[in-house]
Amino acid sequence: MSSQIDHLLNETRRFAPSEEFAASAVATAELYEQAEADREGFWAEQSRTLLHWEKPFTEVLDWSTPPFAKWFADGELNVAYNCLDRHVEAGNGDRVALLWEGEPGDSRRVTYAELTEEVKRLANVLTGLGIEAGDRVAVYLPMIPEAIASMLAVARIGAIHSVVFGGFSADSLRSRIDDAGAKLVITADGGYRKGKVSPLKPAVDQALADRGDGEQLTVEHVLVVRRGENEVAWTEGRDLWWHDVVPAASAEHTAQAFPAENPLFILYTSGTTGKPKGILHTSGGYLTQAAFTHRNVFDLHPESDVYWCTADIGWITGHTYVAYAPLANGATQVLYEGTPEFPQPGRWWEVIEKYGVTIFYTAPTAIRGFMKQGRQIPQRRDLSSLRVLGSVGEPINPEAWIWYREIIGAGRTPIVDTWWQTETGAIMVSALPGVTETKPGSAQVALPGISLDVVDEKARHVGHGNGGLLVVTEPWPSMLRGIWGDPERYRETYWDRFADQGHYFAGDGARLDEDGDIWLLGRVDDVMNISGHRLSTAEIESALVAHEATAEAAVVGASDETTGQAVVAFVILKESYLKLHGPDGLAQQLRAWVSEQIGPIARPRDVYIVGELPKTRSGKIMRRLLRDVAEGREVGDTTTLADTAVMSVISAQVR
Ligand code: WTA
Repeated sequence: MSSQIDHLLNETRRFAPSEEFAASAVATAELYEQAEADREGFWAEQSRTLLHWEKPFTEVLDWSTPPFAKWFADGELNVAYNCLDRHVEAGNGDRVALLWEGEPGDSRRVTYAELTEEVKRLANVLTGLGIEAGDRVAVYLPMIPEAIASMLAVARIGAIHSVVFGGFSADSLRSRIDDAGAKLVITADGGYRKGKVSPLKPAVDQALADRGDGEQLTVEHVLVVRRGENEVAWTEGRDLWWHDVVPAASAEHTAQAFPAENPLFILYTSGTTGKPKGILHTSGGYLTQAAFTHRNVFDLHPESDVYWCTADIGWITGHTYVAYAPLANGATQVLYEGTPEFPQPGRWWEVIEKYGVTIFYTAPTAIRGFMKQGRQIPQRRDLSSLRVLGSVGEPINPEAWIWYREIIGAGRTPIVDTWWQTETGAIMVSALPGVTETKPGSAQVALPGISLDVVDEKARHVGHGNGGLLVVTEPWPSMLRGIWGDPERYRETYWDRFADQGHYFAGDGARLDEDGDIWLLGRVDDVMNISGHRLSTAEIESALVAHEATAEAAVVGASDETTGQAVVAFVILKESYLKLHGPDGLAQQLRAWVSEQIGPIARPRDVYIVGELPKTRSGKIMRRLLRDVAEGREVGDTTTLADTAVMSVISAQVR
C-alpha cells in the first residue's frame, strides 16, 4: 500500500471548472454552507423540492434507536408516482425516459407516458397475482425496459424487489429467493450477451426445482418476458408470459401513498462471510438522496441532457443511477443491453454518438480496458456531446482519470469520481461539477449534508496528510436500514467497530491529503473488488471446498491491471482424490466450478494447487502473505506463522 500512497502523493495536476460551465451549473458552493448551518433542515428542503409528498412530513430524522434510523417518518409518498406519473401530469409525458439499445442493434424509445402506462398495467398484474405491500418479488432480467418497469411496478404497490444480477448462477438466485422469501420471480427467456442469447429462465427453473430437502418454496408464479426467443421449459399454472398478461391488464391504476420508511428493495451484496447480506433500503430518504446527488453530482438539466450510466440493474449503481434517480428527476437516459465490446470494441462510443449522450457514468475497470485498446477506437466517433464524466466502483488511478478526461472528454469535461456503497444507497463523496477544482485520483469531498471522517483504530481523526479508516459520522437519508432478517449482523458489521462514537464503519481505507481531500485506498476487510463488483473471499472459498477434490482453500484479491483486483485461489486437494485422479486439469476445472456455483464474475484468474496454507498458531489463514505471492512480491513478515517454512514451499509451488 505504501508505494501506492507515494505514487498518489506525487499527483499534482488540478482542473478548475471553466467559467462557462460554472455559470449554468446546477450545484453551487452555497449548498455546503446551507448543509453546514442546518444539516437536517437542508435534507428536508431537498426532499420537499425534489419529491412529491402525498402527505408532507413534519419530522426529519429519528435517531432515537441507533443504528436504526428513520427519515421523514410521518410523511407518505409513492416512489413510482414520483418517477413517472408526476412528470406526465406536469406535461412531460412525451419526453423520452428510455433510449433503449439492444445488443444486436434493435432499439426502442419509451416516453414517460408510455412507461407510466406499462407500469400501471404491470402493477395491476402483480396485484392480480396476489402480491401485496411488503411482499418480496425477485427480478432476474437483462437490461431491457421491462426491468425498469418491473422495479417501478413493485415499488408502486408497496412491495419489495430483490433484483438478482443476470450473471449470477441458479444457486445464487436460489439462496437470494429463499432468504427474501420471494413470492414471484420476474425473468426473461434470455438476454443478449456477446452476440449470443444467454438463457435466464432455465436458471430460474433450476433455482425453483424441488431439491428434496423438505424446504418449502415461497415462489408462486414466474412472469417471463420474451427477449432471447430461446426455447424454455414451461410449468403450467406457475409460469406466465409477460406479453399474455401485461397488455391485457387495465392501464388504470392510482398510486397509493406509503409511509416514507416503507421498504423499497433488498439488494444482496458480499460481506466478509460466505453468506451475502440482504441490504435493505426504504423509500423517502433513499429517493431524496438519489435525486439530489444525481442532479448535483452530474449537473443534470433534465430538459436537455441525455444521460447514460452503464451499470447493470443487478448492482446498486443500476438501482440508484439507472432505475430511480434519473426517473425521479425526469431525465432522458440510455439503457444498453450488452457488453462494451460487442459486436466491436467501440460499441459504447457508437452508442454515445448515436444518442448524443451528454453525461456518462461508468467504472474504472472499463476505462482501463479502453485504454488498453487504444485511443484510436473512441477517436473514430464523435463524442463532442459529452459534458460530464463520472466514475464509480473502485479507486480510479490518475492515469486512467487523465485518459478519461483527455480522450473521452476532449480535455474539457469535469470528471466526478463518486465514492459510495450498496449500503450508503447513494453517492457520499464526490466533486461537484462547476464548483470543485478536481484532482485526478481523489474522490475529494463529502457531499453537502454528508458527514465523514478518516480515523485511526481508536477513532481519532487522523489529520491532513495521513491515512486511516473511512467512517460516516452522522446518519444520512439513503443509508441502509438494516440487513434483511438479521439486525444483529447489521449492528456487528457496520456499527460495533466504532460503537462508542456511533460511527458507521464503511470497510474502506482512505487518506486525507494536505487539503483534506479524500483518497480511497481499497477495502480493509476480506471483501474483494473485481471490476467494481464486490465479492467476498469467504464466498469463493466455500464454493471451492464444495468441490469433491478440495480439502481446503484460501482466496485473495490480487491487484490486476484491468480489473482492479483479480481472484486468486490457493487450494489443497484431498489425498483420496489425488490418489484416484491426480491433479491434472484440476485448476481449470475449479475455475469453471466457481463460475457455475456463483457466476462468471467470481471465476478465479488463477488457481494454485498447494500442499499447505500459511496459518497462525490459532489456525487463522494469513491471506496477507498469500497476496504477496499472488502479486509476485517478496513475502512479508512470517513470524506469526505456526510453521514459518510453509511460505517458501508455497512460493516454490506457485512458481
Ligand atoms: C468501492 C458500488 C474508490 C469501495 C457503488 C466501496 C470505490 C465498494 C469507489 C462498494 C470510488 C466504490 N473510489 N472505491 N469512487 N466507489 N468503491 O457496494 O471499496 O458495489 O466500499 O457499491 O466499492 O461497492 P458496492
